Amino acid sequence: VASVGHANPEVVEAVRAQMSRLSTHTRYLQRGVVEFAEQLLATFPAHIGHVMFTNSGSEANDLALRVARTWTGGTGVVVTAEAYHGTTDLLATVSPSVHATFGTDPGVRVVPRPSARLAAAAGQEVGDWFADQVDAAFQDMRAHGTVPSAFLADSIFSSDGIYPNAPGFLKKTIDVVHGHGALFISDEVQPGYTRTGETFWGFMRHGVEADLVTCGKPMGNGLPVAALAGRAEVLARFGRDVPYFNTFGGSSVPIAAAQAVLTFVQREDLLASVHRTGTALRDGIDALTAGRPDVDEVRGAGLYLGVELVDAADAPDSATALRVVNEMRRRHVLISVAGQGNNVLKIRPPLVFGDAEVATFLDRFADTLDAVDRHPRSPR
Ligand SMILES: Cc1ncc(COP(=O)(O)O)c(C=O)c1O
Repeated sequence: VASVGHANPEVVEAVRAQMSRLSTHTRYLQRGVVEFAEQLLATFPAHIGHVMFTNSGSEANDLALRVARTWTGGTGVVVTAEAYHGTTDLLATVSPSVHATFGTDPGVRVVPRPSARLAAAAGQEVGDWFADQVDAAFQDMRAHGTVPSAFLADSIFSSDGIYPNAPGFLKKTIDVVHGHGALFISDEVQPGYTRTGETFWGFMRHGVEADLVTCGKPMGNGLPVAALAGRAEVLARFGRDVPYFNTFGGSSVPIAAAQAVLTFVQREDLLASVHRTGTALRDGIDALTAGRPDVDEVRGAGLYLGVELVDAADAPDSATALRVVNEMRRRHVLISVAGQGNNVLKIRPPLVFGDAEVATFLDRFADTLDAVDRHPRSPR
């Protein structure tokens, strides 16, 4: 969330200046929101031509599903097994990782995480295998009388355990989605805004056309601002047919923050910096974990890395993962866990992470691994 650094002076000043001038709702058009919309749309491929602003990633995803359903006339949605897409009642039906509330919508189908190992076990390459899973899900949905509306996915599959895979691996899957008449909603709350170090948006790594794109977390450096962008014709029709007003979505101050953030990201060329720093971080983690029997795999793209921990029987080891998270916290480095088994260390620093921060991280990670080796059981 603190994408361009805590207390970034340019964001602070933009917010102060806007707050001193005008801070109001979006019933009347303001210059700031129009200018920011143009600046944001310029980060997309040409087919993405409209944008709507919301207050959170959840609101953006909820709206995306409404738009997809309106456009396709269908209701069916395919998501991954550990997906998380937000807080609303509708999103709970497409967020299997929120177990308590998942499973109430008969039109929702779940596919496994796009793991190269799962694919290999089935004798397939991951791109082909995942496309087959998505195809089977849509076919089953149709066989039960539900018309497809969307494949909703985070292209780095973060809550599934961080599976960015090689650029291009989603190509076949998105062809399948479009073949079923559904839209691809790319949830870019995690992989967007240069996070992968390869392209500004995660879906662009794969050379595919997302129909709708949602974003939130990094946009306002902590202020609540999020967006739904999409094909011009899709959002134009929704705008024409469905009355939609959002008091604070796109309001003056969050948009000023968002404009300052995006300007910083572009001027400082954070895409290149994320690539460079992410490579250094990955190399360092690879070196520290090489040969460790408890590290099953290191995965990631740019500044989004996952380290999968397993026990002596090769089963997910969430106890050790949580232990590492807490040992790192004691050393003032915040990481988390992801994946079905809560055993994948989720390492996702601010986009402005530099060489000095990488060195600090690696130093404390090495210390943490030592501590885990010295006392395999966490002291209670
Ligand atoms: C992939 C993904 N989508 C959507 C959301 C929801 O965004 P928000 O918390 O801004 O509502 C999150 C939040 O963590 C997320 O990780």
